[in-house]
Amino acid sequence: MDVIEIIRAKRDGGELTPEQIDWVIDAYTRGEVAEEQMSALAMAIFLRGMNRAEVARWTEAMLASGVRLDFSDLDRPTTDKHSTGGVGDKITLPLTPTVAACGAAVPQLSGRGLGHTGGTLDKLESIPGWRASLSTDEMRAVLSETGGVICAAGEGLAPADRKLYALRDVTGTVESIPLISASIMSKKLAEGTGALVLDVKAGSGAFMKDVASARELARTMVDIGTDHGVRTVALITDMSVPLGRQVGNALEVAESVEVLSGGGPADVVELTVALAREMLTAAGLTPGENGVKDPAEALRDGSALEAWKRLIRAQGGDPDAPLPQAAERRTVLAPTSGVLTRLDAYQVGLAAWRLGAGRARKEDAVSFGAGVTLHAKPGETVKAGEPLFTLYADEPERFERGADALEGAFDIDPDGVFEPGPIVIDRIA
Ligand code: URA
Repeated sequence: MDVIEIIRAKRDGGELTPEQIDWVIDAYTRGEVAEEQMSALAMAIFLRGMNRAEVARWTEAMLASGVRLDFSDLDRPTTDKHSTGGVGDKITLPLTPTVAACGAAVPQLSGRGLGHTGGTLDKLESIPGWRASLSTDEMRAVLSETGGVICAAGEGLAPADRKLYALRDVTGTVESIPLISASIMSKKLAEGTGALVLDVKAGSGAFMKDVASARELARTMVDIGTDHGVRTVALITDMSVPLGRQVGNALEVAESVEVLSGGGPADVVELTVALAREMLTAAGLTPGENGVKDPAEALRDGSALEAWKRLIRAQGGDPDAPLPQAAERRTVLAPTSGVLTRLDAYQVGLAAWRLGAGRARKEDAVSFGAGVTLHAKPGETVKAGEPLFTLYADEPERFERGADALEGAFDIDPDGVFEPGPIVIDRIA
């Protein structure tokens, strides 16, 4: 095979053959295809796209580059969720124990955050003692003991994607629906879940800024999952406004514990319950029937909170230990009175990132206590001179740029009427 011929074929809008795809992924993973050649091919795919057969084969080839876990011998069905990422998106934290409390097992391989959206592992690592790296045997033991496990994907899972994603990140080729779909689905299929619910976000704080592209991404991923025998459904959900009122690692853990204790912000509760119901149903357990508890009940009756504590302890964490706090805080006051009619998710995410909650490069450390508390959400009334945001950071020099990101991030209308949109916009099965 000739890599230049493959690049030219895609550059000129042709369809790649299954043999070409298998070869190029394998040769790239082994180092035979150079980074600059793969980067040219990624850009050609970015510009020309791939059809359903090509995306399916590309996913298959990346899946075949590593191991595929198998939890089919567990005494309960497995089901997982993947979110395409958003601001304040801590849903995995309350969701995993809630689904475990309702009778399914959740093998969740998560990532660390890069850019303005936080990573689940960064959030959980703010819990004293909690460990993200588990061997496959440890992962299996935690999953069968607690009904859930959230850990870092090992080196052996879809290594082709690991290498290609890092390359796409520095070559302007991340935002491609076929490449994103194959990247996410190769990892999710490798983790060995029997059912999968995709939370595909649309809005300023998401990869997909509009609902039409979110639908296209969801459709592509659902088709890949279904073709691989995994029951896959997607919810398209709103990410124009941050989820909940806390954005930042330890801040989001605290908010998740509120939700698990039966309280917490309505949007976080609504999305947790909607995704949990989908995950259970996809696993063949209908909530509210045949003794399967409804997720809303698991949040109310304390069983989800108990499951959370078991899950955290099983990975070395102390669920009752105080969470880290930032060394410094500043308050941003509302400039005028009225109804908050807009709060931009991307800008809030950027502020939290600049305050230290996220990282610029993979090797950077995050600040666990850094982030933003939102004192009002769209639809709520604010008064001039009262707190609108609290910003947290370890280094005071971060506040100026953090606050700058919030300039123009919101509108306050003196006699505004606000019509909230739905959180779950669509469902693709
Ligand atoms: N997340 C992934 O895992 N891969 C992508 O390509 C984009 C987001």
